[in-house]
Amino acid sequence: MITGASASGWSLVLKPLDFDQRFIDDLITFLMDIRDRRVLITGASRGLGRALAFAFAAGGAREVFAGARNAADIEKLKSDVAAISAPITPIKLDVTSEDDVNATANLGFIDILVNNAGIAGYGDPLQMNFETAVREMNVNYFGALRMARALAPQMIERGEGMIVSVATAFAKVNLPLVATYCASKAALLSLGQALRAYLGDKGVHVMTVMPTTIDTDMSKGADVPKMTTEFVATEILRHIREETIDPPIGEEAEGILDGLLKDPAGLEKMIGQIRA
Ligand SMILES: NC(=O)c1ccc[n+]([C@@H]2O[C@H](COP(=O)([O-])OP(=O)(O)OC[C@H]3O[C@@H](n4cnc5c(N)ncnc54)[C@H](OP(=O)(O)O)[C@@H]3O)[C@@H](O)[C@H]2O)c1
Repeated sequence: MITGASASGWSLVLKPLDFDQRFIDDLITFLMDIRDRRVLITGASRGLGRALAFAFAAGGAREVFAGARNAADIEKLKSDVAAISAPITPIKLDVTSEDDVNATANLGFIDILVNNAGIAGYGDPLQMNFETAVREMNVNYFGALRMARALAPQMIERGEGMIVSVATAFAKVNLPLVATYCASKAALLSLGQALRAYLGDKGVHVMTVMPTTIDTDMSKGADVPKMTTEFVATEILRHIREETIDPPIGEEAEGILDGLLKDPAGLEKMIGQIRA
């Protein structure tokens, strides 16, 4: 900024630029820049995990490790990635395998871990196959805990990082059609709170995202409105950039959280009618 003239001619005096406050606020809002980050996503063979892998790559992530359980899915991902030269590296990763999970600690520093892998059983918790309920906990809850135990130490050491887990708004109020699934997601949501308590002051942000129905294999039989994987992935990336705490994803999820504030008993009664 030119402020005046001296005897020897014009003098240039640098003054702080007069930034508009809203512009500064916008800059502050975007806390986690995903560009150049190294990301690991579990359950990226299909559905939301796959969409997230491509969304991170399109958003400028340096490297995206896309976890898949089967060799055929890994090969398919490799050829899809090669076709568009995306920085996505498929890796073998079953979140119930200690060996697979521990191997992720040797990939180098991971800035953002996304616990996306999930399975869902249906039915009356008193009648359904008990093994299904055990498997849900093993993948949806213990899988995320295993991954956090493998990767959080490096984040703590570096003093930065993010752990994002994909739950559901029905972790807050049980949808009895998928009763034990919701219970496993409630455990995941609670784990996120605990991790936040232990990691918050170490520079590691912990977030559990809560969508409702997404158009994937998991919801194939459900005749209800569904969000696209692209919409949900975009929303999750927005919340990662903003370092939100446990956001609902989509209008229905927002409505559920709102209903819980206004009339929790009424909401539980209404959703409780949706049974197997
Ligand atoms: N779809 C919905 O309506 C909805 C709503 C709210 C939240 N969510 C959550 O969103 C996440 C993604 O689900 P989605 O809808 O994309 O379901 P999906 O299409 O059924 O995909 C599930 C993914 O999880 C993987 N997976 C399952 N067990 C695994 C294990 N032991 N180790 C590693 N990966 C495993 C699957 O791998 P394979 O291909 O090898 O089976 C697949 O990649 C889940 O956590 C789900 O609970 C879904």
